[in-house]
Amino acid sequence: MSIFMRSLSMTFGFCAMLLVVAVSSCSMTSGKGQTVLVAGATGGTGRALVRDLQSQGYTVRAFVRDKSKARPVLGDEVSYVTGDVREIDTIYPAMQDVAYVISAIGSTRSDPTNNPEAVDFGGVKNLADAAAAAGVRQFVLVSSSGVTDKDHFLNKQFDNILNWKFKGEQALRMSGVPYTIVRPGGLVNTPPGEFAVIFAQGDTTGGRISREDLASVCVAALQVPDAINKTFEVFNGETSGENHWNVLFASLVAD
Ligand SMILES: NC(=O)c1ccc[n+]([C@@H]2O[C@H](COP(=O)([O-])OP(=O)(O)OC[C@H]3O[C@@H](n4cnc5c(N)ncnc54)[C@H](OP(=O)(O)O)[C@@H]3O)[C@@H](O)[C@H]2O)c1
Repeated sequence: MSIFMRSLSMTFGFCAMLLVVAVSSCSMTSGKGQTVLVAGATGGTGRALVRDLQSQGYTVRAFVRDKSKARPVLGDEVSYVTGDVREIDTIYPAMQDVAYVISAIGSTRSDPTNNPEAVDFGGVKNLADAAAAAGVRQFVLVSSSGVTDKDHFLNKQFDNILNWKFKGEQALRMSGVPYTIVRPGGLVNTPPGEFAVIFAQGDTTGGRISREDLASVCVAALQVPDAINKTFEVFNGETSGENHWNVLFASLVAD
């Protein structure tokens, strides 16, 4: 190949690469200024979600059980609605004028009344039904990898938690609200962006993901039309690299 042909082909390759990235960025919608209700905002993933949403200009409303405990954690830049996902009447007021809901709620081992059936199923169903009644545009649910494995060891260890999470997913699918169901691997408190994010489908298990990266996936889902009505696992890979959300979401098959 002549030097001319080689440089022409390199230039073409480079331009094609730029085009892919440009197309990726172009089809990201912006929800800036829109109100996002975050359920589970005081939790590990919830706190990362609140920071991420704020840094991208969203208006954050935190659904919390105890405002006096939440405020020192989340600050004064978010608004608060007090409620409990087990009580649907406490959720309706929180949904007023909300464009998006992200749920990172989780049951509590130390409180038998706040168990997987009541929270990971009942709480998610209540949130989804209230979101449907309010005409919410999209609901992003943090679920878990392994939810379709009835014999998973976590079901034996903690009140069938994964079985109830799967029923929670189904309640969201049935609610009629456009949704995105994110099934993370084991959660770790490592910094964002250390390793690239990998998407998978088919309820694969075995990986881990940083809570910060999980939050980035959930916020990106609000901005990519291809994220609607999809269920997928998320893990960190073994190498670093930029996450092209459009390409990742477009690679997924809808439910
Ligand atoms: N840990 C893992 O390795 C792992 C793996 C896969 C999936 N997940 C799932 O990922 C999600 C996020 O996990 P995480 O460890 O980041 O969460 P987390 O720290 O356990 O936080 C749970 C959140 O849920 C809230 N919550 C609990 N019961 C509630 C109720 N009845 N009403 C309203 N809010 C309630 C808690 O609020 P309070 O402050 O009031 O308690 C807290 O904000 C969970 O669904 C978890 O099951 C976890």
